[in-house]
Amino acid sequence: MRPAAELDLPVRLERANGTPLHRQVAEALRAAVLDGSLPAGTRLPATRTLAARLGVARATVLTAYEQLSGEGYLEAGHGSGTYVNRHLPAVLAVDSRRPAAAPATGRSGQVLDLRPGRPDTRRLVDVAWRRAWREAAEVVPPADPPLQGLPALRAEIAAHLRAARGVPADPDDVVVTAGTGEGLALAVHALGLGGRPVAVEDPGYPAARRVLTRLGAALDPVPVDEHGVRVDVLAARPFAAALVTPSHQYPLGGVLPVDRRLALLAAARASAAVVLEDDYDSEFRFGLAPLPALAALDPAAVVHIGTFSKVLAPWLRAGYLLVPAALRAAFLDVREDLGTVVSGVQQQALAGYLASGALRRHIARSRRDHAHRRAHLTRLLAEQPTLRSRDSRAGLHAVIALPEGTAVPALLRDLAEEGVLLADLADYAVGAAPAEPAVVLGYGAATTAELDRAVAALAVRCRR
Ligand SMILES: Cc1ncc(COP(=O)(O)O)c(C=O)c1O
Repeated sequence: MRPAAELDLPVRLERANGTPLHRQVAEALRAAVLDGSLPAGTRLPATRTLAARLGVARATVLTAYEQLSGEGYLEAGHGSGTYVNRHLPAVLAVDSRRPAAAPATGRSGQVLDLRPGRPDTRRLVDVAWRRAWREAAEVVPPADPPLQGLPALRAEIAAHLRAARGVPADPDDVVVTAGTGEGLALAVHALGLGGRPVAVEDPGYPAARRVLTRLGAALDPVPVDEHGVRVDVLAARPFAAALVTPSHQYPLGGVLPVDRRLALLAAARASAAVVLEDDYDSEFRFGLAPLPALAALDPAAVVHIGTFSKVLAPWLRAGYLLVPAALRAAFLDVREDLGTVVSGVQQQALAGYLASGALRRHIARSRRDHAHRRAHLTRLLAEQPTLRSRDSRAGLHAVIALPEGTAVPALLRDLAEEGVLLADLADYAVGAAPAEPAVVLGYGAATTAELDRAVAALAVRCRR
């Protein structure tokens, strides 16, 4: 492959045509990736070099690179440098400006898994990440990690919660977990929820329901509307705990209004119940002011459940609980019996990574990336009269309503035959199926070309 400096990049700028220069640079580079003149893995010139060659400010090239990275066309390489994403699917080797015909796939094509729950991990491994893990690997104490988690990591998590969520978190309240499921299991044991009613959202997160059911809790499904869980219904029944996703209802996307938040907390207090607040992806909001977390409104009544699965990677298996002081001993008793679950090396690495400010930077970068993908998806769906996005201004997935009468399982089987995997909204329901047929599409790790492919495939099957 030719060295970056020699690449003859096909960028021709027209200063008089009114399109911002960074957009012109991005469009030219995107077109070059799509038509194959910049093949996967090609190293791009340094921003300074390209800026000098084009006679534009370095910030112009930087913005174009950022945008294309957000869309998934470019990626940071090992060490330094920007490359054409090595994992681009073969389907990209067509001109995307052609109107989307039938999806270009088939059994031999690459599988495009857009079921929700997958963040983009391609830009995670950078200098800060490597340094944190290298330094963590050099410390090997002769004992188990502390039951509650490494003090340095708990301090960083508390600081993150204070800054990002406005939760008055104290490091002493933090318990490091191996993710949401493990945190929830700890809560069921510590709060003695076996055999007792636990309110869950319907539709809601099936994996969390499975944990509760397996450990003997009696699930009580509560309906959800466009604002989140129906607190009026929930509060009218007895409950020992309520598992909710107030900052971004999973999967429908509602943001629980403050009056419902307060009513939920009042109901919990009245029945001496605990609210389990699953705050799985609240870092990703787009033009939506954050509402106070339940744990910020009433720290004594809420166990706040956080995870690094969305902001970093599910591969880590790491998360945390914020436990009210009065309940801490019960949680630590369970932890003592079941043993520590998160490796000390991992905790050390995470503590170093957070302390360096890298998590904050990674979240900001990911938020920009997701905003590009979300905007692209919104545009694609707006062009399809038979597909309707239920607008959610947060998170990493979209719920797409399909024409009335669509048989979603058969549709998803057809799509899977073509290598496009989506989820059926009905699979999130406990009781009645959703009123309208819909699919759930995760765009956290998708390139814009992959979104083109998925929406085209979906639209072809939903023609009127
Ligand atoms: C509602 C909800 N909570 C939590 C999680 C994360 O779970 P974990 O921390 O076990 O990876 C997810 C992942 O998809 C989710 O959808």
